[in-house]
Formats: sequence, structure tokens, C-alpha cells
Amino acid sequence: MKFFAVLALCVVGAIASPLTADEASLVQSSWKQVSHNEADILAAVFAAYPDIQAKFPQFAGKDLASIKDTAAFAIHATRIVSFLSEVIALSGNPSNEAAVNNLVTKLGTDHNGRGVTKAQFGEFRTALVSYLSNHVSWGDNVAAAWSKALDNTMAIASKVMAH
Ligand code: HEM
Repeated sequence: MKFFAVLALCVVGAIASPLTADEASLVQSSWKQVSHNEADILAAVFAAYPDIQAKFPQFAGKDLASIKDTAAFAIHATRIVSFLSEVIALSGNPSNEAAVNNLVTKLGTDHNGRGVTKAQFGEFRTALVSYLSNHVSWGDNVAAAWSKALDNTMAIASKVMAH
């Protein structure tokens, strides 16, 4: 009995304040409006925060305009957007919380190993929200749902990032 109580706490404790089904559906429907713009999204992140671009060995020190249309750029943009699509698709359903926790923990661990900081994840968040607010049907309810989703994601990743 005690074991199950602890297990339940661990699973429930994975995400501080999970999205309701309605919030998840706002995030999902707005994400669908832009998730095909992979390179455009990554370019917006790099343009706003060159320190993020500088952490990618194959893009560091290069002019954004000269890399934006390359295959390597498309591959990376697709990796990042696909990760977000996977997590977003899982959100809003309590039975997926452990899966979300595992995916984001792995993302945080891998990026921590590359010297990426929590502050840079915060920059990515700011650039992403700015991109969304300019490219999807935006409003207070959509902004609040994204904010909660990103708070949850940052909280999970931060636990395993050193800086
Ligand atoms: C904010 C600062 C970030 C930096 C500096 C950064 C940097 C990197 C680097 C250097 C790589 C390895 C590239 C290579 O293989 O040559 C990578 C891979 C990857 N990044 Fe990021 N990243 C950041 C944020 C993110 C975020 C927010 C996501 C997801 C939403 C993400 C998703 C991925 C994925 C899926 C991969 C490929 C799988 C892997 O190797 O882990 N990254 N990132």
C-alpha cells in the first residue's frame, strides 16, 4: 500500500500543474497552425538569440541567411519541431504524464551535457512565444495555455540542468 502511495506521488509529482484538456487543445490547435514552418521557427530563434546558434558546431559563426536553406538546417529544425509536436500531442491526458516527464528529462540531460543552460532554454521559450504570437490566432486564453505548458516543460528540464 505504502509503495503504491509513493508511486502515485512520483507519477503525479512529475508535472506540477498539468494542462486541462481544454488548455491542451488550445496549445495543440495553435501549434498545428505553424508546425510545418520548421526552418522558419528555428531561424526566428537563432535571429533573436545568436548565443543559441553559437552552440551548434555546424552553424556557429555562420551567417544565418547562408545556412537557413541548407539540408542540415532543415534536419535540425525538424528534430526540434518534432520533439515539441510529440510532447504537445501527449499533453492534456493524465495517463501520458510519465511519458512527457521522461521525454523532457532526457532533453534536459542531453542538452546539459552540451553545455546548454536554463537561461538559454528560457531564451528559446521567449523566441518561440514571440513567433507564435505573430503567426497563430493569438489571444489571452491561448497565451495562458502556452505559458502553463512551457512552465511545466521548463520545470522538468531545469531539474536535470546544472546551470
Ligand atoms: C535553447 C538552447 C538550445 C541549444 C543551444 C541547443 C543545442 C543543441 C545542439 C548543439 C544539439 C546537437 C546538434 C548536433 O547533433 O550537432 C541539439 C540537438 C537537439 N536539440 Fe537542442 N538546443 C537548444 C534547445 C532545444 C529545445 C528547446 C529543444 C526542443 C524543444 C531542442 C531539441 C533538440 C533535439 C530534438 C535535438 C536532437 C536530439 C539530440 O541530439 O538530443 N533543443 N541541440
